[in-house]
Amino acid sequence: MSKVLVVDDEQSMRDFLGIMLKKEGHDVVTAATGNDALKAVQSEIFDLVITDVKMPGRDGIDVLKVVKDISSETVVIMITAYATAETAVEAMKLGASDYIIKPFKIDELKLIINNSLEKRHLRKENILLKREMESKAGFENFIGKSEPMQKVFALIRQVAETNSTVLITGESGTGKELVAKAIHFSSPRRKKPFVTVNCGALPETLLESELFGYMKGAFTGASSNKQGLFEAANEGTIFLDEISATTPALQIKLLRVLQEREFIRVGGTTAVRVDVHVIAASNKDLQAEIAKGMFREDLFYRLNVIPIQLPPLRERREDVPLLVDHFLKKISVGRAPKKITPEAMNALMAYRWPGNVRELENTLERLAILCSDDTIHLEHIPDAVRSAKPCSDLVAIDIPEEGVDLEAILETAEKTLLRKALEKTQGVKTEAAKLLKLSFRSFRHRLQKYDGS
Ligand SMILES: Nc1ncnc2c1ncn2[C@@H]1O[C@H](COP(=O)(O)OP(=O)(O)OP(=O)(O)O)[C@@H](O)[C@H]1O
Ligand SMILES: [Mg+2]
Repeated sequence: MSKVLVVDDEQSMRDFLGIMLKKEGHDVVTAATGNDALKAVQSEIFDLVITDVKMPGRDGIDVLKVVKDISSETVVIMITAYATAETAVEAMKLGASDYIIKPFKIDELKLIINNSLEKRHLRKENILLKREMESKAGFENFIGKSEPMQKVFALIRQVAETNSTVLITGESGTGKELVAKAIHFSSPRRKKPFVTVNCGALPETLLESELFGYMKGAFTGASSNKQGLFEAANEGTIFLDEISATTPALQIKLLRVLQEREFIRVGGTTAVRVDVHVIAASNKDLQAEIAKGMFREDLFYRLNVIPIQLPPLRERREDVPLLVDHFLKKISVGRAPKKITPEAMNALMAYRWPGNVRELENTLERLAILCSDDTIHLEHIPDAVRSAKPCSDLVAIDIPEEGVDLEAILETAEKTLLRKALEKTQGVKTEAAKLLKLSFRSFRHRLQKYDGS
C-alpha cells in the first residue's frame, strides 16, 4: 500500500483517480489546487503524487517543483493534454518519473503508476538486499556449543516467532549484534528491513531526526521531508544499539513509540504508525544506569520484556576451539585454513579475552597474517595472550556455597608460582623474577616471606 496524492482542479478527474487508486489498495489524498497540494506535502510524506499540468494558479510544474523540493524521494507522474505534451518532457527533466497524455485508458495509467511505484520499491529493496548480503546473518555463522550459548540460541528461536521487545546485554564483543540479526533473519520479518541504529554515534538532536524523520524546514539543514529509521524499518526490525547512550529526553520519545507504536516526525503534526520489532542492546548494566539517574526505569521495563544475556567468552571456554576453527576458515578465503597445535589452542582457551569474541577474531586475523607457517604454534601466540595464562586459571575458580578464604588462596598461588618459576629456571633467581614480571628485589622479598615454610 502506498500513500498517493492526486492533484487536479477538475472534480470528476479527482474522483475518478481517487476511486481507482483506492481500489488498487492505496491510501489516497486529493487536492484541488496547487496550494492545497503544497499544504498536503508539507504535512505528510507521499510515495506518489499524480498531478494535472494545467491548473489555474500554481500549475502542475509548480507542484512538481515543490514536491521535489520538499520531498525528493516522492515519485511524481504528470497528466497532460496533447497540446501541452512538450511541457511533460520538460517535467521529466525537472524530476517527474513519467507522464500520461489525456485522454488515456485506465490500464495505461495503471501500468505507469505500477511501473513508477515498482521502480521506487526496487530502489528501496536493492538497498535492503545489499545490506542482507553484507550482513550474511542468520545462524550459520553463529558459533557456540556451550550450554549458555545453546540457551541463547533457543531463546532466539522463540522470540523470532513473536513481536516482543528484546533487550540484549553483554560485554563488548560478545555478539549482541549477531543475536539481533539472528532474531530478525529467522523471523517471519526476514524479507523486510533490518535497520541498525547506533545510539551512541550521534548527538541527541541528530539521533532524534534520524529515528523519527523530519519535515522540510523543521530545523536548519532540513532541506527536504525525510522518513526516519522507524519508518524505514516498517514491517521489519529496528536494532537500537548502545541504548544506554540515549539522553533522558529521547528516552521519553522512545517510550512513547514502544507504548503507542506511533510517533511524530520532527517538525511534523500528524502521528505516524509503524509496525516494527524493536530489539535493543547495551554493554552497560542498565540497572546501574537507572540507579545513577542516567536511564529511565519505565523505558527499561518496556525494553526488558525478553532479556537475552550474553555470557563473556571466558565463561564458555569450550566454545573457543569452535570459534578458532570458524575464524581460521573465514580468514583463509580460497586457501587451505591454517592449522593450530594443541599447545597453542590451550593458550587461546586459557586467556581471559576481555574483548571477547571480537578480540579472538582480531587476534587470529593478525596471527594468520604474521605466521608464515601453515600451522600456528605456541610461539606465534602474542605474549599478552600467553602470559596471562596462570592468572586466567585462577579467575576461573568458582566460589562454593561455604565461601573461600581469599588470603589463603592468594598465599598458595603466590607460593606455587614462586616455586614453579624457580624450577623452570633451575634456581636462577634473576630469571625466575623475570618470568613472574617482578623486580629482583620484589621477588626476593616474596621468597623470604615463605622462607622455611
Ligand atoms: N558466537 C559467535 N560466533 C561467531 N562470531 C561471533 C560470535 N560472537 C561474536 N562474533 C563475532 O565477533 C564480532 C563482535 O560481535 P558483535 O559485533 O555482535 O559484538 P557486540 O556484542 O555487538 O559488541 P559491542 O558491544 O562492542 O558492539 C563480530 O565480528 C561477530 O561476527
Ligand atoms: Mg555491537
